[in-house]
Amino acid sequence: MLTVDHLNVWFGHHPDRVDAVQDASFSVAQGESFGLVGESGSGKSTILRAIAGLIDTWSGTITVAGQPLAARKRDRAFYKTVQMVFQDPYASLHPRHSVDAVLSETLRLQGMDDIDRRIGRLLDDVGLGRGFRFRYPHQLSGGQRQRVAIARALAAEPRLLLLDEPTSALDVSVQAEILNLLADLRAEHGLTYVMVSHDLAVVGHMCDRLAVMQGGRIVEVMDVQALRGGTPQQDYTRQLIAASQGYERA
Ligand SMILES: Nc1ncnc2c1ncn2[C@@H]1O[C@H](COP(=O)(O)OP(=O)(O)O)[C@@H](O)[C@H]1O
Ligand SMILES: [Mg+2]
Repeated sequence: MLTVDHLNVWFGHHPDRVDAVQDASFSVAQGESFGLVGESGSGKSTILRAIAGLIDTWSGTITVAGQPLAARKRDRAFYKTVQMVFQDPYASLHPRHSVDAVLSETLRLQGMDDIDRRIGRLLDDVGLGRGFRFRYPHQLSGGQRQRVAIARALAAEPRLLLLDEPTSALDVSVQAEILNLLADLRAEHGLTYVMVSHDLAVVGHMCDRLAVMQGGRIVEVMDVQALRGGTPQQDYTRQLIAASQGYERA
């Protein structure tokens, strides 16, 4: 479903250039859930943003569903295959657009018909129900907003969802609900996920395989069993696991 090969992503120009991702390679099979973990600033979001077409300054190869992507142009067909869900559901929804406006605009952009029926089904799919259709963001909790953002992403009927810390801006009590929703949606719709998280427990719960990033580089790609069993190959991964366990105990 996705192949990233020798990906470099940079910002700015010499001498202020930041090499945010260096020589990153991984692939994700259809239907798989793949995690990207690492400390803040390690380049996780930058990889997702490059795949989603939100950053122009990259080199290497990104292939989605067998199609190599051009650096700049992404057409509508691309967004029918790939959608992204962002970390902050407060920032990602326009305050003056109702849920109905958000979803109907996306459906129309994708050339879908039967908008009313699709909106109802999307709201059911994300566990909000049709009663939320004419609400505005300020009338929604953080978890409800993230459900709307997920519904918007699903509206295009994508095959690959890029999830950038989809629960880390939410109250702890709501995080598990959203993660469970995402797990159910993947099973029901046969979706492929690439999920960024700084939380190893989340990735251990949600993903089949993961890449560990440090300073813009992938230091290790591993099965989630190796994460759960505490048997990674690299010292850095061991440190990351030890740090997360220390934090959980504290
Ligand atoms: N738009 C940008 N302009 C300049 N530097 C950026 C930009 N976005 C990210 N960076 C830098 O790229 C590096 C990786 O950032 P990011 O991918 O957001 O990390 P993560 O998601 O792992 O926390 C950081 O050093 C960050 O400061
Ligand atoms: Mg990030």
